[in-house]
Amino acid sequence: MTRRIDIVEVGPRDGLQNDPGNLSTSQKLEFISRLEDCGARRMESGSFVSPKAVPKMADSGDVFRSLDRSRPTRHIALALNEKGVRRAIDAKADEINFVLVAGETFGKRNQGMSPSESADMLAQCAPLVHDAAIPLTATISVAFGDPFDGEVDPAVVANLAARAQRAGVGELALGDTIGVATPWQVRSLIERVLIEAPDVFLRMHFHDTRGAALANVAAAIDAGVDVIDASCGGIGGCPFAPAATGNVATEDVVYMLERGGYETGLDLGKLIETAKWLETVLGHPVSSSLSRAGGFPA
Ligand code: COA
Ligand code: ZN
Repeated sequence: MTRRIDIVEVGPRDGLQNDPGNLSTSQKLEFISRLEDCGARRMESGSFVSPKAVPKMADSGDVFRSLDRSRPTRHIALALNEKGVRRAIDAKADEINFVLVAGETFGKRNQGMSPSESADMLAQCAPLVHDAAIPLTATISVAFGDPFDGEVDPAVVANLAARAQRAGVGELALGDTIGVATPWQVRSLIERVLIEAPDVFLRMHFHDTRGAALANVAAAIDAGVDVIDASCGGIGGCPFAPAATGNVATEDVVYMLERGGYETGLDLGKLIETAKWLETVLGHPVSSSLSRAGGFPA
């Protein structure tokens, strides 16, 4: 049987939050709908954070209110404090993805919290999400390195994972927010996290800042992970990370996996078309390899 790898499309959130281009709310909805046409079934469609911190996500409430709910997509809302979680519940998010942070300085700059404070905040918010009967997931950001403090101790990541498991997080992503991970570090961190949080279902979140993102996806899949975050076009990046670049591109991941015999449920040709459409609305080229080279065989 073919192994299925699920891709969570993060273009509408991680992708757009830091892009120089400005999409209107209706263009964001068109992006989401085009991604659904490509076969995307789980998508980070917005974030409920301070509009002063991330102005490009200020209209996430409007985006969620206008989603076409007749389609089977699960729309994920990002949140990192209680106000955000309440707004995401009000917006009828299908899933809430909470952001934990593994680095001290990045945590302060991104969300005004230390790693331990972000886990305290999750413990405070989790009951709200559970009471609303919404699946709760989490991402540990800067799990492979902090742009200001440097190396992140895997013990910190494993401890956050254990706290996430205790808070009732079902799926946990290890986030390489600044694109510093290597395939060997990926395997070893996965193994470490699963010792201390054996019941969480792992997802991986890679940025292609230093060219290792696809290799990291392959390493994660070899280590048993079945869910990968990716953004169409490879757009994206965190506004609080210096020299941030985009997520690993959905079409690049789909190409690699399908050539490798895995099934993703996504249509490569339509993803490439969507990446090209993005270039027109964002007003600049996108970084994915497949949008330049096309698939193979043609
Ligand atoms: N949604 C909307 N507004 C929010 C909010 C949320 N989730 N959380 C806080 N705010 C507002 C407060 O109401 C307050 O507004 P006011 O100035 O009009 O009174 C203001 O933001 C400051 O609130 P405070 O609780 O003091 O937050 P802060 O200034 O310490 O900032 C965060 C903390 C978490 C709100 C902010 O750092 C943030 O939103 N970061 C998001 C970072 C991000 O999204 N990074 C990329 C994805 S990981
Ligand atoms: Zn990211």
